[in-house]
Amino acid sequence: MRIDIITVLPELLESPLSHSIMKRAQAKGLLEIHVHPLRQYSNLKHNQVDDYQFGGGAGMVMMLEPIVNAIESLQAKVQYDEVIYLTPDGETLNQKMANQLSLKGNLLMLCGHYKGIDQRIRDHFITKEISIGDYVLSGGELGAAVLVDAIGRLLPGVLNNETSALTDSFQDNLLAPPVYTRPEEFRGWKVPEILLSGDHKKIEEWRHQESVERTKQRRPDLL
Ligand code: ADE
Repeated sequence: MRIDIITVLPELLESPLSHSIMKRAQAKGLLEIHVHPLRQYSNLKHNQVDDYQFGGGAGMVMMLEPIVNAIESLQAKVQYDEVIYLTPDGETLNQKMANQLSLKGNLLMLCGHYKGIDQRIRDHFITKEISIGDYVLSGGELGAAVLVDAIGRLLPGVLNNETSALTDSFQDNLLAPPVYTRPEEFRGWKVPEILLSGDHKKIEEWRHQESVERTKQRRPDLL
């Protein structure tokens, strides 16, 4: 999969996408990430990319031209399955959406800043608007990093043991069960005996039961 990200703050995306599983995905050639600084697509003095909003009001708006230049020059080279705008008023990201996006070939993501982008970009270029939750971030970069991570780890071959993505929380609308590692006992706190029994069928049943219990208690809306 190839993901291109257009942003005014490329630095914000560097670290989150160059460690751990995202690093491995790229090293294995399963995920290609290209970050494009928006200012380099501005033809204005000081590489301006934002301006006052028509109608008045506080806050700057990201201008049409640099974004159109960026999107069109990328589209001339790459065929994108989706052009995604990260915004708090988009559709809320969930595991199902991440699963669906992980099946695509090429994605283009646009990070908003300030008061957002000129509505005409949304009307004419954006195919999908995504929010990572009901709160407002300073820009779309952290949202894009979250989205790339959620998608990237689902690409076949990225995780060592592919079943580990399948047993994540939300994958079957259930939260993940509790997990334990050594030591078996610490300060008198014991690991549930069933996990030490070696009976894999019983362990699976226990885990499923714990998942259902946890989901009932914490996220009954998922059931
Ligand atoms: N930009 C600002 N807030 C955001 C959010 N919650 N999700 C995605 N992009 C955003």
